[in-house]
Amino acid sequence: MKKDIRRAIIAGNWKMNKTRPEAKELIEAMKPLVKDAGCEVVICVPYTNLETAVELTKGTNIRVGAENCHFAKSGAYTGEISADMLTEIGVEYVVLGHSERRQYFGETDETVNKRTKAALEAGLKPIVCVGELLWERECGITEEVIARQIKLDFFGVTADELKNCVIAYEPVWAIGTGKTATADQAEEVCGFIRGVLSKLYGKDVADTITIQYGGSMNAGNASELLSKENVDGGLIGGASLKANDFAIIVDAATKG
Ligand code: 13P
Repeated sequence: MKKDIRRAIIAGNWKMNKTRPEAKELIEAMKPLVKDAGCEVVICVPYTNLETAVELTKGTNIRVGAENCHFAKSGAYTGEISADMLTEIGVEYVVLGHSERRQYFGETDETVNKRTKAALEAGLKPIVCVGELLWERECGITEEVIARQIKLDFFGVTADELKNCVIAYEPVWAIGTGKTATADQAEEVCGFIRGVLSKLYGKDVADTITIQYGGSMNAGNASELLSKENVDGGLIGGASLKANDFAIIVDAATKG
């Protein structure tokens, strides 16, 4: 991490976990453990827990994010939630283009791009996820896949808007599998992403963008991953559901 020039951000992605009482318990346990964090701490929680999370984190250093939002302002989109609905209740971040959305819910780079623009327009900070499949890595096209996702997902996003975006590099083969990318693999792709941003937006802008790693990041491997120059934080799934483990990762980012 280069904390002198960009924000280090540790974000939990709770995915489809935690009822409201469980969410309350986890947030209360987490609060004292991360209160002295030297990085931004975000929890991205299911829609049903957003209001609870916003309420319980008021006056603390924990920011709240959603796990998706729709691109339309309102309308006949049964089951969807707009960006305005999120900002109105105090949500600051939103995860977009997560590989689980792409894999199970037909999300494409085109819809991720539309959602990113809608989120920015509403004043949310999008955490846009990119990452290659195992098959793509084995075929040697990781960089091609990542460059394409970055170009498409951020198409039409201005340099000023990009400053409110976070990019999460999440190799799909490392998510929920216990198979972490090595720190060198994470650094290689995060550095590559910065290079793509540099071509699109110029080096000065690219140098300020937070690029997280996600995929089986945990209390045991966070320090090494976060020690890499281009890994500016983490998007944490499983380990964010345990207050102590999440706090250890936050500590690693604080020290890193
Ligand atoms: P895990 O940390 O459970 O592998 O999940 C990573 C992830 O998908 C975060 O968005």
